[in-house]
Amino acid sequence: MGEVLALGMTHYPALVNPDERMAGILRWVLEDEAIPAEHKDPAAWPAAMREEYGDDGGTASAAVHRERCLAAFRRLRSELDEFRPDVVVIWGDDQYENFREEIIPPFCLFALDDLKLRPWQHSRAANVWGEPADEVLPVRGAKDMAKHFASAMLADGVDLAYSYRLRDETIAPHAFLNTLLFLDYDRTGFPYPVIPFQVNCYGSYVIARHGEPTRFGHADAPEDLDPPGPTPQRAMEVGAAFARAAAASPWRVAVIGSSSWSHAFLHDKAWRLYPDIASDEEYYRAMVEQDYAVWEAATPEGLAASGQQEMLNWFCLLGAVKELGAAPTWTELVTTRVFNSSKCFAIFR
Ligand SMILES: [Fe+2]
Repeated sequence: MGEVLALGMTHYPALVNPDERMAGILRWVLEDEAIPAEHKDPAAWPAAMREEYGDDGGTASAAVHRERCLAAFRRLRSELDEFRPDVVVIWGDDQYENFREEIIPPFCLFALDDLKLRPWQHSRAANVWGEPADEVLPVRGAKDMAKHFASAMLADGVDLAYSYRLRDETIAPHAFLNTLLFLDYDRTGFPYPVIPFQVNCYGSYVIARHGEPTRFGHADAPEDLDPPGPTPQRAMEVGAAFARAAAASPWRVAVIGSSSWSHAFLHDKAWRLYPDIASDEEYYRAMVEQDYAVWEAATPEGLAASGQQEMLNWFCLLGAVKELGAAPTWTELVTTRVFNSSKCFAIFR
């Protein structure tokens, strides 16, 4: 019988930037002419936000925010190393990166050969590791194990898509790439075979807005939206089905739900300035207390109103955790009003 370790983390893109650029999304939102000036005025911000932004545009606070995230990444990595997984499965979103007009699957399991990713080939700005544009990141594939899991889930009644090839074999969607970069923040290498498991978190916006931020009121974006993504309940069912397949397999399987929680740039109720921390705290409490009814009652509209679209990756994770009867052994919620999103970290055994 297989053994499963379940982890939750963020793939917050700004952590690849130096501290002085970490508040970049907030600065972009502050340039939005569709947001009334009185709301953008720091005098109208919550006091904690003014303090966090400081008089240096958040640079000093960014160092603190980074340190808290890095401590969590290192904790997750040491748990992973202790577990010695045969394979690492990552639930992550695709923001018009791999899947485009040809097809948008609600869920897709990748059965890939080994990859040689090139994380910085299209980025002009320096990354925090100082790695060059031609840096190669080797990632071990897990084609046979992925085919086994896809087969098991299809037999279990999940109409799951699978894929043998990325659109560009040197590019992995940021959710998967950043998860691997952050679990190897100290650059000792990541030796475990990987199965990316895509979740269509951005639903109606995935093609219409390429899963990207828009201006308030969507002045710069088409109103011709796409069909929705899967519901949070279906994400939990898919997570549970994967957990059954993993537990019945002969392998040691690590599953990771990868995303930040509420995103400021999607949180209209706060003029997109800061995330819906109150809602994140309620999901966090429910997760820690294993009060799954709160997660099971989530609606797509509620998640969208709070900018929590990417939490669908965590709904897969929580579905797996509930199915396995696993319990959290360590959790942390890192909140911020300046660095776009709440970051949750969790270990379940
Ligand atoms: Fe994402």
